[in-house]
Amino acid sequence: MSKLFPHLFQPLQLRHKTLKHRLVFGAHTANMAEAGLPGERHLGYYTERARGGAAMIVVEPVPVHRTGVLTRGNFRHEDDSIVPAFRRITEACHAYDTVMIQQVYHVGQHGDADNSFEPNWSPSGRPSYHDSDGSHAMTGAEVEEMIESFVQAARRARESGFDGIELFANYHGLIEQFWTPWSNLRDDEWGGSFEKRMRFSSEIIRRTRALVGEGFIIGLAVSVDTGAQVANSLEVLQEIVAWHDERGLMDYVTCGTGGYFDFAQLIPTVVYEDKLGANLAEALKRVVSHAKVQAESHIRTPENANTVIGSGQADMVSIVRGQIADPHMAAKAMEDRPEDVRPCLSCNQMCWGRRFRDYWISCLINPSSGREYLWGGDRFTPAEQPKRVLVVGGGPAGLEAARVAAERGHQVTLAEASDQLGGQFRLAGLQPRRAQILDLIAWFQGQLEKLQVQVRYNTPLFDLAEVEAFGADVVVLATGSLPTGTGFQRALPHLETLPGVERGNVWSVEEVMGRAARLGKAVLLLDDGANWRGSGTAWHLAEQGHAVTLVTPSPVVAKELERTAVDGPLRGRLKGLGVTFFTESALAEWHGDAATIRDLLDGSERRLPFDSLVLATPNEAETTLHQALDGSAIEVRSIGDCVAPRQANLAIYEGRKLGLAL
Ligand SMILES: Cc1cc2nc3c(=O)[nH]c(=O)nc-3n(C[C@H](O)[C@H](O)[C@H](O)COP(=O)(O)O)c2cc1C
Ligand code: SF4
Repeated sequence: MSKLFPHLFQPLQLRHKTLKHRLVFGAHTANMAEAGLPGERHLGYYTERARGGAAMIVVEPVPVHRTGVLTRGNFRHEDDSIVPAFRRITEACHAYDTVMIQQVYHVGQHGDADNSFEPNWSPSGRPSYHDSDGSHAMTGAEVEEMIESFVQAARRARESGFDGIELFANYHGLIEQFWTPWSNLRDDEWGGSFEKRMRFSSEIIRRTRALVGEGFIIGLAVSVDTGAQVANSLEVLQEIVAWHDERGLMDYVTCGTGGYFDFAQLIPTVVYEDKLGANLAEALKRVVSHAKVQAESHIRTPENANTVIGSGQADMVSIVRGQIADPHMAAKAMEDRPEDVRPCLSCNQMCWGRRFRDYWISCLINPSSGREYLWGGDRFTPAEQPKRVLVVGGGPAGLEAARVAAERGHQVTLAEASDQLGGQFRLAGLQPRRAQILDLIAWFQGQLEKLQVQVRYNTPLFDLAEVEAFGADVVVLATGSLPTGTGFQRALPHLETLPGVERGNVWSVEEVMGRAARLGKAVLLLDDGANWRGSGTAWHLAEQGHAVTLVTPSPVVAKELERTAVDGPLRGRLKGLGVTFFTESALAEWHGDAATIRDLLDGSERRLPFDSLVLATPNEAETTLHQALDGSAIEVRSIGDCVAPRQANLAIYEGRKLGLAL
């Protein structure tokens, strides 16, 4: 029994099931179906979280109706062929004593016709907030058809071996559209009074219960979206939840944040505080006497989860991204080893960032997410032949390669040129609100110590003799990338060098974040990539009191971060700090104390004074050591930015892949 988390690791009775503790792996679209069926990827993904100790898993939602197909990886709707495929998953997870729930959903007016090829059905024909389409106001017969679709989805879930379902009544999905006066303008028996607006959800539940019987959990997922006046307020939601609870309709209720009006809060990134949804759960707990209440949204850690339960805010807690990042979070916490939990970055880069683009999800820091069926989770097969491995470079690629190689029994030395681990990722961790990256680097450091990896700091390696002195069987090059200093911009590819870059007062992002730059008050930041590198540095500089102007070829600032749902809040912070934006623009010339900015739409130019120029432009691979070792007898493998400058996810992916192959 855990001494550190006594509240979290208490059992909980949920209808006919006893959860072994209170930590749940909540609902999320992993988008992993193959030909509409859960396959090996899906099986491996969920089984790993069950093996890792999750008390309850809410499996990725199934669309209940042909008009509700939302993603390429959705499961077949209205089709019993999913039943045997899901049975494999429920059976595999039940073997770990995990309660298995399936979410069932329909997003109503906010559908995706590119995937469904159907009009979006809704209560009253309100427009989509997913794209620019309108929707179809359902007839009475269509409402009946939809209710029956929900009921049949529940039947399939029961036949698939699930212990219950979770109804998607959150984020202004179809059920919430019926609850909300703005989206339910009907004057028949499905709209008008409060009671009539509740009828759609209560009929689904009553008819489901009649079909599936008493031994089946029915949960309700709700949410509070503060992003629009027309969304239900917390007080209204309390009334709705209390109404359902008085009638004993649901066994539990889970409350998310945000929704289709304010998507940024739905999967909150670093700009939001921890335990974002805990207060909402607490408010719902005050109005229910029957249902259990689950807190969710940025609960993040076992420590937070234990506090939420201990303070009585909720009966159970969902941590989604934390368990994507570390499938064994529950087991490690239960064994009082929270320092071993690989800490999620709240970055959304590879989970929501991939779902947003309709790929199956993975994780920046845990590339085995979605590849468990190939790689296992964090369970490593010992190497057949232990080797002496030298890893050169302690950035994300080198750290992961060293860790995994050591896990497999190799004798690993890591040579790092500086006096700290993390490489450029550490610099990213120094940007505002991004200190979770520093926590991850500390986690790597702790793991390397436990695995007895020898870390040699201040050890830059330049030539063959220096490398040979280590006597390694294999040398892994993870030497990263460097700024070019040329000011090359993608928007002006005919210019190898920014005209005037040699006139001085020009610094790289790396020099700025590494505190090597001497900047004047007025700073021009050239953000070629429209991602964290540029806009995070602009934020840092603006917080330091600089007057920052950001020039980007992109149509909006931080466009590359749209997929992670942080771009809007980030632009808001920059604007609040007085940062000036020039979008769809490039730098025609640097004058040492001024810049000529070109509008890429009409070619017009204007000269503005600045003290300093900061370049967030493409890096180049650092290949000095690779060239020095070329042609030698040493076995050399290169990973990460020294192969091609990219983001950290591919560095860690390549580190893991190589560590598994050595
Ligand atoms: C990739 C991804 C997909 C999601 N899809 C769903 C979904 O289909 N249904 C749902 O109710 N919530 C969904 N969510 C929201 C999560 O249930 C949860 O509320 C959110 O991730 C915040 O919790 P966390 O901080 O523990 O990750 C999704 C989250 C992620 C990361
Ligand atoms: S991609 Fe980022 S936010 Fe998503 S689970 Fe991994 S670390 Fe967490």
